[in-house]
Amino acid sequence: MVVIKGAAGNIGGTLANILLENNQKVRAIGRSAERLKTVVDRGGEAAVGDVGDPDFLTETFKGGDGVFAMIPPVYTAPDFRGYYNEVGTHIVQAIHGSGVQHVVFLSSHGAHLPDKTGPIKGLRDVERKLDELKGVTIRILRPTFFMENLLSNVDLIKNMGIAGGGIKPDTKFAMIATQDIAQVASEYLIRRDISGKSVRELLGERDVSMNEVARIFGKKIGKPDLKYVHFSAAEEKKGLMDYGMSDDFSDQMVELNQAISDGLIAVNQERTADNTTQTTIEEFADFFAQVYRQG
Ligand SMILES: NC(=O)c1ccc[n+]([C@@H]2O[C@H](COP(=O)([O-])OP(=O)(O)OC[C@H]3O[C@@H](n4cnc5c(N)ncnc54)[C@H](OP(=O)(O)O)[C@@H]3O)[C@@H](O)[C@H]2O)c1
Repeated sequence: MVVIKGAAGNIGGTLANILLENNQKVRAIGRSAERLKTVVDRGGEAAVGDVGDPDFLTETFKGGDGVFAMIPPVYTAPDFRGYYNEVGTHIVQAIHGSGVQHVVFLSSHGAHLPDKTGPIKGLRDVERKLDELKGVTIRILRPTFFMENLLSNVDLIKNMGIAGGGIKPDTKFAMIATQDIAQVASEYLIRRDISGKSVRELLGERDVSMNEVARIFGKKIGKPDLKYVHFSAAEEKKGLMDYGMSDDFSDQMVELNQAISDGLIAVNQERTADNTTQTTIEEFADFFAQVYRQG
């Protein structure tokens, strides 16, 4: 049985489907039975509870051969790094207390750096906590920027007729579709044939700039002249806060986008078969166009 945190989310939901298609037993964690219904309808088990409750997490991990652990992003957290550290401590306690042997942890590209990486600093802290566990196989996945982040452009295009964000328009950087991350996680959780601790970076199919994204998406949605507008740090922060994100999280995002713009992370990384995944930005654009038309 594989226990999945964030099973109603982007990666956890796809991972649950892949595992069930491969005849694996799945226990899906989320806060709402309704949002876990698709997994249950396909034969999975729902564990409804909050990751802020360490006892719930420990009980839910018990009996698992493997666990997919991630930290649900709570964009309203007043201290985002503190929140990641708190949930990370619960994850470590639950792994220890449940005796689960195989763990895949969703971290992020950039967790190798100590500073200037915004929300990724908290994931770096959690990686270090996991490193203290003994006798457990831990695969840390460090995916780059999710293509799904680009869906925030749907509202911008509809309301203002532009795409936009805090990353420089011409900086080519690595982006990945979350289905590719779920695919890699599923391979580890099905095989469970390796031991020890390791880190795997996942950089998507190729580096792409935001200008290119606007061109590719614009063509798909019938707006070939769609332009990407580079927001200043102040404009970006205001936009995030208007969206309901906390002051601290908004600052962290501005810092992260600056790190990408400066080429500190996700830019020009050496590509190998191990860190390169399949889904292209053109394929993701089909999904973007579908969301755009439905929105
Ligand atoms: N975005 C990026 O570019 C990027 C890049 C690298 C790494 N990451 C990391 O990836 C993770 C996000 O992955 P994702 O996009 O797959 O997540 P997601 O789609 O946001 O899914 C998270 C799921 O967790 C559940 N959840 C939220 N709060 C919960 C709580 N308190 N207790 C139990 N369940 C809860 C939610 O379902 P319910 O509401 O039904 O409970 C939600 O569907 C974050 O840790 C982020 O730092 C992100």
